[in-house]
Amino acid sequence: MELQEAIRTRTSIRAFKPDPVPFETVKELLEIAARAPSGTNVQPWKVHVVAGKARDELVEKLLAYREENPTDTAQEFDHSNKRVEPYITRMRTLGKEMYGLIGIPKGDKERSWEQWGRNYKFFDAPVGLIFTVDKDLDARSWLDIGMFMQTFMLAAKERGLDTCAQGAWNMFWKATREILNVPEEEYIICGMSLGYADPDDPVNKLISEREPVEGFTTFHGYAEASVETA
Ligand SMILES: Cc1cc2nc3c(=O)[nH]c(=O)nc-3n(C[C@H](O)[C@H](O)[C@H](O)COP(=O)(O)O)c2cc1C
Repeated sequence: MELQEAIRTRTSIRAFKPDPVPFETVKELLEIAARAPSGTNVQPWKVHVVAGKARDELVEKLLAYREENPTDTAQEFDHSNKRVEPYITRMRTLGKEMYGLIGIPKGDKERSWEQWGRNYKFFDAPVGLIFTVDKDLDARSWLDIGMFMQTFMLAAKERGLDTCAQGAWNMFWKATREILNVPEEEYIICGMSLGYADPDDPVNKLISEREPVEGFTTFHGYAEASVETA
């Protein structure tokens, strides 16, 4: 698969087949991802990989914690993102499309809770990744980790594997910290599912929208661009 094909065909997968992913494959993907750039080469990424019994244990304990502490959803780090336009509409569109595909009507709290909970089963993927970052590092390192994650996801796609990045894992972090022994000096910032997509599950049919380039780019110094947008 060409790189551009991997980029264009990668989508967030939210239903996986149980087929395992070999240790060597995961390790190689991590090696490739570690070629991602990072400011002054600090390589701030830290990853916990869970598979087999460790994965099942994390899933089981996390889901139990969530049932007992359903409102313990605050992230440990600053999460004061204001819900403003145009972001709110994009977020709602995604939710509407996804829940529409699965057939969960708006306001069905029970099924929405259940569907959200699938995050904590890694959507049945055989491998889960939990990304952490040293609390001492600032936003620049978080950018680096984003690049690491995207490199990992594209390398996985190239090998016929699928992924879903999961901010959901920065909630209920107290339980994850304890189960995986994550040091107090690190934030749990994201999770990721890794495995083989279940092509028959309707949730995987979702192709999310993108804004056109003109919507997010200001071109400076390109005569063609100013003619087109004039
Ligand atoms: C940092 C990050 C966190 C995300 N968290 C979640 C999540 O918790 N659960 C989920 O189902 N999808 C999650 N996603 C997937 C996004 O919803 C998805 O990337 C977006 O809708 C675009 O769709 P696409 O990945 O299929 O292109 C996350 C993506 C990113 C980059």
